[in-house]
Amino acid sequence: MINHRNWVLAVTLLLAGTPYLVLADSDVAQLMADCGDCHALNNPNYTQQSATERKNRKAPPLFYAGNKFNRTWLVAWLQNPERIRPAGYYPPAHILRGADGDSVDTSSLPEHTALSAADAAQTADYLMSLKPFTSLVEAAAYEPGTLSWKMGNLTFGKFNGCDACHRDAPDYGGTSGPELYTAWARLQPGFIASYIADPVAWDPHTLMPGNSLNPEVVKKLADYLKVNGEDFK
Ligand code: HEC
Ligand code: HEC
Repeated sequence: MINHRNWVLAVTLLLAGTPYLVLADSDVAQLMADCGDCHALNNPNYTQQSATERKNRKAPPLFYAGNKFNRTWLVAWLQNPERIRPAGYYPPAHILRGADGDSVDTSSLPEHTALSAADAAQTADYLMSLKPFTSLVEAAAYEPGTLSWKMGNLTFGKFNGCDACHRDAPDYGGTSGPELYTAWARLQPGFIASYIADPVAWDPHTLMPGNSLNPEVVKKLADYLKVNGEDFK
């Protein structure tokens, strides 16, 4: 998708090193050039690529960051990046098989680069402008509500097995998906509901299985991440 900002970024990158032409976005373009070594900042059209491309991705796609993250969280995280995926972005590469079961080889997980407060704010502004999937969020039509923690916890664990891959507490749950006790602080409510309902719509090669959950269950799961998340703020 060629939108105005991408165009400005492309031109700025093209002209990088041309000192007499200073564009307003040039600082951001410089910053984002490093990020683009690992993250997709433009839609890579995954459907047109082989499914094995997921294995070779270095980092989560950021080209829909503006539909995904809470800006406040983003600014803070970019300055102080703490691990979100306990076994990294491609877990099979970081799991050690042992006689007592599997464990995560944390020594193989690199630290993320940290930005200054000013760079984090500027980077977040740019990332929050990337919103190609607003229609997915709107289709989910999720209105946050509430439910008992106990009912939510059963829905997340026993009834749907989300805890096989996700942690809903720092010391409980699977390690192959992003931690979810921080989901409500990190992610926009509409993204949470939409991703649970149809992960493949967000990422054709996602490692999360699509479950065809009914809308009521999706709402319960999203509400649980809200209710549960309030304990971990
Ligand atoms: C060497 C590769 C690499 C570079 C360079 C890099 N990142 Fe990352 N980034 C990662 C990996 C791997 C993760 C997943 C970390 C985790 O889950 O704990 C990540 C996670 C993120 C996340 C959270 C994404 C999500 O979906 O959870 C954001 C936001 C982010 N990076 C922004 C940036 C920005 C901005 C830059 C440039 C200043 C950058 N990264 C540079 C590898 C990289
Ligand atoms: C087989 C493992 C697995 C199961 C079971 C699973 N997920 Fe996931 N989930 C993942 C992975 C892996 C990702 C990240 C996608 C990727 O990296 O390709 C993800 C992503 C997500 C995200 C987006 C989080 C983010 O930071 O990007 C949410 C929300 C989510 N899952 C909720 C759920 C819920 C609710 C359930 C239960 C219905 C569930 N998941 C079941 C593996 C799983």
